[in-house]
Amino acid sequence: MPTIIINTAREFNGIIEVPGDKSISHRAVMLGSIAEGITEIKGFLMGEDCLRTIEAFRKMGIDIRQRTENREQKTEIAIHGKGLRGLSAPNKELYLGNSGTTMRIILGILAGQDFECTLSGDESLSKRPMKRVSEPLSLMGAIITPKTKNREPNIELFPPLTIKGKYPLKPIKYKLPVASAQVKSALLLAGLYSNGTSEIEEPLQSRDHTERMLKEFSADINIKGSKLLIKSSKLIAKGNIDIPGDISSAAFFMVAAAISKSSKITIKNSGINPTRIGIIDVLKRMEAKLAITNEKRDYFEPTADITVEASALKGATIEADMIPKLIDELPVIMVAAVFSKGSTVIKGASELRVKETDRIVSMLTNLKRMGADIKTEGDDIIISGSGTLTGAEVDSFGDHRTAMSMAVAGLRAKGKTTILNTDCIDKSFPEFERLFGACCAN
Ligand code: S3P
Repeated sequence: MPTIIINTAREFNGIIEVPGDKSISHRAVMLGSIAEGITEIKGFLMGEDCLRTIEAFRKMGIDIRQRTENREQKTEIAIHGKGLRGLSAPNKELYLGNSGTTMRIILGILAGQDFECTLSGDESLSKRPMKRVSEPLSLMGAIITPKTKNREPNIELFPPLTIKGKYPLKPIKYKLPVASAQVKSALLLAGLYSNGTSEIEEPLQSRDHTERMLKEFSADINIKGSKLLIKSSKLIAKGNIDIPGDISSAAFFMVAAAISKSSKITIKNSGINPTRIGIIDVLKRMEAKLAITNEKRDYFEPTADITVEASALKGATIEADMIPKLIDELPVIMVAAVFSKGSTVIKGASELRVKETDRIVSMLTNLKRMGADIKTEGDDIIISGSGTLTGAEVDSFGDHRTAMSMAVAGLRAKGKTTILNTDCIDKSFPEFERLFGACCAN
């Protein structure tokens, strides 16, 4: 059972780059596969989830080649796209491991195919709700059913599931009940296979990587306020895509430096897409010393270098409408809150309950074990900044972000922190242990 041991660190310093953005890596493979022409992706995240996406499209007949893989050179992937209708039926079910993003978004593409296909995943993925995506796709004409029929599909739909696509799909006018980039992306991609204009609206804006990349691939997409209009249109391969560093991975390093004494970290070439920078806004509100330099805004995904220095943090209130911009960073924000003066309240974090694990439970259990003053009221999380933790044995609960957040907590805890089941980190950040360790001075 892989385990990480963290000892109290005196300082946390470095100038680093984090691996490529997970969300953008998935989308680059998906759009590249259904585009016409070759897409070369630089900085692709070789994490387990993104490899599942590659594997799935290979099984549907797409030629995807890896050109380089070593620490000095960024990973380059070449995708030989076959156009919207170029996928072939896989001869076995598509096993997607732990990747909820692959499963939800790929459903949008499979909805427009004229073949049937079964999607499955590991134990955690088999507990993730799929009705939020199957319901609107069914309105467009796809037939999505649970593989095992006794699972009460009227209440919720869980993998494994079978999708029978249809071409063309009916266009849809749909308002998402919850802000979800995965659901929105599935519907946008299904919209490419429909015979009209689909209109998709979200209650709050979630990450917009799909919209941005669709434009890069010349799709007919229009954004009118909170409404997204998408028409059937073919995708033209863009040639090269450079994937910026994942700000969700950078977040662990940002908080680690902010809560440590006399520390300074610079993360170079991090994505700073406005729909993802909730962590920057919150750290600034907590009065962290944070600077953004070397901004590059002429590319379809903006990037910058982010520097964070040791700071006397103050508690903050995070309102529910901010959650989509920092959903994946909430676990590490809870750690920052423990080392802040005063209390931090995170409101309406219900979506944390349906991630790889219930992240409210995983973080509460772990932080309490280390002595934190943290409680919940419904889906609100309330943390009283005590400024201290004691090393303990904690668990990832199979969730990569819980595991890495606990590594950050361990830096400032008295004594040794042992994090169990850390193999899940490979999902989004295979180099985490090495890079994190290199920044620690004991
Ligand atoms: C993702 C969207 C978010 C996020 C997940 C990746 C994506 O989920 O939590 O890690 O790439 O679209 P939701 O869309 O379910 O909020």
